[in-house]
Amino acid sequence: MKDDSRKTTLDPSTRSIIDKIVQENNLNKGAGITILQQVQASLGYVSPPMIRRISKLTGITASALYSIATFYAQFRLEPIGKHLVQVCHGTACHLAGAEKITETITMETGAAEGHTSPDGKFTVEKVACLGCCSLGPVMTINETTHIRLTPEAARKLAKSKKKGCKCEKSSHADQQPGVTPDE
Ligand code: FES
Repeated sequence: MKDDSRKTTLDPSTRSIIDKIVQENNLNKGAGITILQQVQASLGYVSPPMIRRISKLTGITASALYSIATFYAQFRLEPIGKHLVQVCHGTACHLAGAEKITETITMETGAAEGHTSPDGKFTVEKVACLGCCSLGPVMTINETTHIRLTPEAARKLAKSKKKGCKCEKSSHADQQPGVTPDE
């Protein structure tokens, strides 16, 4: 997937994908959310240049589209990193120290919370309850769930991913067979 998030213009293939989606929605001013969803489904995210293109074609103001894209958590404004790290900030995990886990992960990966690291390797997000509250703090990296984390354990996991280590086991998979490791 091409990273257009830091560009101010779109490459021709990205532009033609967007144009096709807008045309399929009949240039409809009321289809802002639908168009954004379809663009994200095709391209993985909706960057400011993409929003400007949609705006130009539909007549929906760029600020209205940007408001939609920032209001709904489903939209990403930049491409997702190779590793998607989601730290649970539900009540139980919050009380168990999720804030420290997020702090550690953002420092170790270089990805600000809600963003992708400059090297494109990590995207770090805070998420709501992941459904294993008694095992917090909980974090997922791609499809693997890690439980009862400490900042040190989180740091080690991030480091192993940075190095491309394939030997790390899921702490969740250890205790709950059936969870698929991400590598
Ligand atoms: S609060 Fe974190 S898993 Fe439920």
